[in-house]
Amino acid sequence: MEALPLLVLATATMRLLVSPAAASALPGCRSSCGRVDIPYPFGIGSNCSKAVIFEIDCSRDDNGVEKPFQGDVEVLNISLLHGQLRFLNHISSQCYNASNKSIIPDDWSLDLPTGYRFSDTHNKFTVIGCQTLAYIGDNDSNVSTYETGCVSVCRSEQSMRNGSCVGIGCCETSIPKGLEHYEVWFDADFNTSGIYSFSHCSYAVLMEAASFRFQTSYVTTDDFVSKNGGAPVVVDWVVGGETCEEAKRNESEYACKSENSECLDSINGPGYLCNCSRGYRGNPYLLDGCQDIDECAEKEQYPCTGVCRNLAGGYRCLCPPGTGGNPVNGTCYPDQKLPMAVKLAIGICSSIAFLLFCIMCIYMIYQRKQLRKMKERHFKEHGGWQLLEEINGKQGIIFKIFTIKEIEKATHNFDKNRVLGRGGHGTVYKGILQDNHVVAIKKSKFIDESQKNEYGKELLILSQINHKNIVKLLGCCLEVDVPILVYEFVSNGTLFHLIHEKRSISSFSLGARLKIAYDSADALAYLHSTASPPIIHGDVKSSNILLDENYVAKVSDFGASKLVPKDKDQLATLVQGTCGYLDPEYLQTCKLTEKSDVYSFGVVFLELLTGKKAVYFEESEEERSLALTFMLAMKENRLSEILDSQVRDEEEDIEYIRQICELAKRCLNVSGEGRPTMKEVAEELDKLRKLKQHSWVQRNVEEIETEFGEASNGQGVDTTIDYTSEKISALNIECR
Ligand SMILES: *[C@@H]1O[C@H](CO)[C@@H](O)[C@H](O)[C@H]1NC(C)=O
Ligand SMILES: *[C@@H]1O[C@H](CO)[C@@H](O)[C@H](O)[C@H]1NC(C)=O
Ligand SMILES: *[C@@H]1O[C@H](CO)[C@@H](O)[C@H](O)[C@H]1NC(C)=O
Ligand SMILES: *[C@@H]1O[C@H](CO)[C@@H](O)[C@H](O)[C@H]1NC(C)=O
Ligand SMILES: *[C@@H]1O[C@H](CO)[C@@H](O)[C@H](O)[C@H]1NC(C)=O
Ligand SMILES: *[C@@H]1O[C@H](CO)[C@@H](O)[C@H](O)[C@H]1NC(C)=O
Ligand SMILES: *[C@@H]1O[C@H](CO)[C@@H](O)[C@H](O)[C@H]1NC(C)=O
Ligand SMILES: *[C@@H]1O[C@H](CO)[C@@H](O)[C@H](O)[C@H]1NC(C)=O
Ligand SMILES: *[C@@H]1O[C@H](CO)[C@@H](O)[C@H](O)[C@H]1NC(C)=O
Ligand SMILES: *[C@@H]1O[C@H](CO)[C@@H](O)[C@H](O)[C@H]1NC(C)=O
Ligand SMILES: *[C@@H]1O[C@H](CO)[C@@H](O)[C@H](O)[C@H]1NC(C)=O
Repeated sequence: MEALPLLVLATATMRLLVSPAAASALPGCRSSCGRVDIPYPFGIGSNCSKAVIFEIDCSRDDNGVEKPFQGDVEVLNISLLHGQLRFLNHISSQCYNASNKSIIPDDWSLDLPTGYRFSDTHNKFTVIGCQTLAYIGDNDSNVSTYETGCVSVCRSEQSMRNGSCVGIGCCETSIPKGLEHYEVWFDADFNTSGIYSFSHCSYAVLMEAASFRFQTSYVTTDDFVSKNGGAPVVVDWVVGGETCEEAKRNESEYACKSENSECLDSINGPGYLCNCSRGYRGNPYLLDGCQDIDECAEKEQYPCTGVCRNLAGGYRCLCPPGTGGNPVNGTCYPDQKLPMAVKLAIGICSSIAFLLFCIMCIYMIYQRKQLRKMKERHFKEHGGWQLLEEINGKQGIIFKIFTIKEIEKATHNFDKNRVLGRGGHGTVYKGILQDNHVVAIKKSKFIDESQKNEYGKELLILSQINHKNIVKLLGCCLEVDVPILVYEFVSNGTLFHLIHEKRSISSFSLGARLKIAYDSADALAYLHSTASPPIIHGDVKSSNILLDENYVAKVSDFGASKLVPKDKDQLATLVQGTCGYLDPEYLQTCKLTEKSDVYSFGVVFLELLTGKKAVYFEESEEERSLALTFMLAMKENRLSEILDSQVRDEEEDIEYIRQICELAKRCLNVSGEGRPTMKEVAEELDKLRKLKQHSWVQRNVEEIETEFGEASNGQGVDTTIDYTSEKISALNIECR
């Protein structure tokens, strides 16, 4: 019996478990021979292995291919993970020679070095032949502990089946644990002499079961032996003969050098093995040989469909918040804990919320569009386009079309604190434009529907009026339902305010009053005759006459004004105007004419002279019309009663007062025909002023120069009317 020094091997299943990264040798040592990895404790050469039994010879075969050998056997694989080694085993045979009728046996025995044992789980004693009885036994000692055999017989060649090793052409049997040594022999009485026609030899070998598959040709030919020159067999190896517990006591000899490694007692006889701890990989026999596995980078081996995090010796795989399930070998899905109804509700609610949001967006866009459309419609309705054309066509027009945004900005969104005045027609705001220009912004309450389309055109005409005593129209905004007008800002309030609220008219001389009357009359005369086309103001009253810082009158508010229509039939049928100022003829005919303005002016003139309102209350609490009272007073020669005491005291020339009153009376003639034109009124007033001006100037020229010299610079203000009443001697006057 030949005792082979030792051998090694690995199993087929091991293939799956050995990872290339696990193989590593000592520093400066080769880690492989040919295609076989040689991990420590194995090594090529004496100083590279842990012990003699782990020494590997790496030598070339006849073809020059490097092959590892241990003793005489060729090593096929080394597995650290399972502590196994695979090597090529010898196949025993028994052949019959018909020539000299003899049997040629090839018995076999094998001794493994200390620390190696045949794997009882991976190997099987395998016998091939059609008339064969082969034995395997432990003939080591005089008292044999182990001996068994396997018989294979064929009734015919055809009874054999490929891949079927069940005693017909092939048989196999298990071996016990801890086998370190075995012998193989044949029973000579079971020979192939009888079946020599198709089978000459029988075979027997201890080999890895997984790598064997019976072929019928193995019986009839020498394929089985010639194929690989041997059969792979698996042996288990250990690094020490003691148990783990014992081995750990002697630290210098303890083989599991790496951190995160563990010791395992061999399951096939005495001794122990090392293995990397869970979650680590590498060579546990080397210092720092076991390395942490980055599980998250190896999704195939360590599946994770959730959020993966590598940890020392493991990893964490969790489902994202709000989801549940098994992220390792399943998938994450929305948390199942919520009842179906709740989930449904959440789904429906979020859908509805989204839908509402969308609808709101669409609605807002629609609203904006509508608003823009409405703005455009208003603009068009108010004749904005024609106006624009006209403005662009003509040069030197200082007229601006404002947007509603600009207006809102200028008035602080129509702030209450910006209100200058309120009236039946609308509200006037103080506005500050972007260029810091102060303007008056008039927001009307309504607009005459029939006149809508003409509006732009009318505005253009009004904008072209350029008279120092008429409040200038600077621009408009047509984007709104009722157009907003932008006027020049006049700082000192209305004449009405001056006369009736501030009551400061009493400090105004007759000359100053005449000046205000003249300025107003001049403005109206301009509207009636110079403007093209002529314009009827339609609502002349003291609250529509503004005063600037020098008390120069400026006629304003064309809210009721009318262009004089070419066709007289078009005359307005709507009675407009203010009580106390209304032309009685207009009330009867409903025909607004220039003479209506003259009547209204007459009332304003009376207010200036008397300091009384157009409609006022006497002590008797009886409502009185100023015009009627005046006419009555004229008739009854009681003028001094009705005139302002200041006027009465100031002027001694009764004839002069009478002339003034006469003019007022003419203006208030019940018949329009009997009234003078506005131009005549203005001329008359001018004449009356100049008549007295001379003497006033004569008497007061020194005071005037000292008091008003500076104020009058370049202002075009007639200073002669501005001096105060104290300078003039008081006189009792009477108008006849
Ligand atoms: C074992 O060795 C055989 C032959 O050398 C080779 O084909 C096989 O891939 C090896 N298995 C492993 C797991 O290394
Ligand atoms: C092994 O190491 C020893 C000393 O450590 C040395 O004497 C010997 O030459 C080495 N052998 C080889 C083959 O390197
Ligand atoms: C070593 O550990 C790995 C897993 O870490 C395991 O698959 C393998 O079977 C272990 N080896 C032995 C011999 O128990
Ligand atoms: C069988 O025996 C004869 C005669 O002794 C010999 O010549 C021949 O080589 C043998 N055959 C085998 C296969 O050994
Ligand atoms: C048959 O031949 C073989 C070799 O050819 C020889 O070893 C054997 O002894 C022979 N047997 C007999 C009975 O001659
Ligand atoms: C082993 O022992 C048995 C009987 O005990 C014997 O028949 C057989 O020939 C022996 N085998 C070897 C190889 O010595
Ligand atoms: C086996 O028996 C023989 C004699 O029968 C004896 O000489 C030998 O020492 C024994 N061997 C063992 C290992 O006991
Ligand atoms: C067994 O397989 C071989 C090829 O592998 C084939 O030639 C032979 O016919 C098969 N035998 C049987 C009984 O199927
Ligand atoms: C071969 O086997 C037969 C019986 O099957 C037997 O008679 C014969 O002696 C055997 N031959 C040898 C050489 O042992
Ligand atoms: C450890 O092993 C070494 C070498 O085998 C030996 O010299 C030493 O005495 C042992 N120590 C213990 C505590 O067993
Ligand atoms: C994988 O799923 C199976 C059942 O499908 C379960 O028994 C097993 O524990 C799961 N494995 C892990 C790692 O979750």
